[in-house]
Amino acid sequence: MSNLKNKTIIITGAAMGLGLASAIECASQEANLTLIDFNEASLKKAETAILEKFPQTKLLSIVADVSSEDTVKSYVEQTVKTFGRIDGFYNNAGIEGRQAPMTEYDIDIFKKVIDINLMGVYYGLRYVIPVMQDQKYGRIVNVASVGGIRGVMNQTPYVASKHAVSGMTKNAALEYAKFGITANAIAPGAILTPMVAEAFVQLNAADPKAAETEYAQSNPSKRLGLPEEVAKVVAFLLSEDCSYINGQTIAIDGGQSNSYGNI
Ligand SMILES: NC(=O)c1ccc[n+]([C@@H]2O[C@H](COP(=O)([O-])OP(=O)(O)OC[C@H]3O[C@@H](n4cnc5c(N)ncnc54)[C@H](O)[C@@H]3O)[C@@H](O)[C@H]2O)c1
Repeated sequence: MSNLKNKTIIITGAAMGLGLASAIECASQEANLTLIDFNEASLKKAETAILEKFPQTKLLSIVADVSSEDTVKSYVEQTVKTFGRIDGFYNNAGIEGRQAPMTEYDIDIFKKVIDINLMGVYYGLRYVIPVMQDQKYGRIVNVASVGGIRGVMNQTPYVASKHAVSGMTKNAALEYAKFGITANAIAPGAILTPMVAEAFVQLNAADPKAAETEYAQSNPSKRLGLPEEVAKVVAFLLSEDCSYINGQTIAIDGGQSNSYGNI
């Protein structure tokens, strides 16, 4: 299926994990891509991997930090200059921060999580939406988390930032649906990406695999999700077919967020 053929899509945090998996899925559907990441070496590797698999892909890579407003404005301008429009925006870059109880949380790390996960997502919306408004068409997918629906022990700034992403998604839908724009969020559960692998190291440095296995037991599916499983949903939400789902936060978590801890 090539539902994204000739669509221009910006993906932030594209160098690895969920961003890279979606970039590969979008390239397989013949989209034009702007890839954004602040990790230059990993971004280069991602670009090479995508072009090896899908050499026809029109691809622009930009090293940028989404928590810098000027940088975000610039990557949006460069995308429009290169491709003429922006059909889809996968507003994905984010960090987890460190794990600590609320009253002991390091304030500098707290602010950094908010700067990237909340302000970075907002800057993207601020500069991409006017382009989509002019086109009278656009598809936005913000990345929240199950931590944007529920609390998560020892992750106060992450949970605060992801609830904010879900809230901004609702407002984007309310304010811009009349311009042919849909804005939805995804709420992944634990998906096996480098970010989650690092969380298991924090939980059990001696045996992160044991921490992963134990964690999976609390999921009705008894396993973690794969980035490719998320990418399929994202590709749909970025496509023209996603025309009347708007302002939703969609859990992709193997059913886990429905549980009262009784599985
Ligand atoms: N993996 C999961 O289980 C999971 C669950 C829920 C939500 N999420 C969310 O999904 C998104 C992607 O997570 P992931 O697991 O793929 O993480 P990851 O760490 O594997 O990849 C994130 C990518 O974003 C980039 N990035 C981080 N901060 C950036 C910044 N300021 N500017 C530009 N690029 C930046 C990193 O360099 C990296 O390439 C995040 O928003 C995360 O909170 C992930």
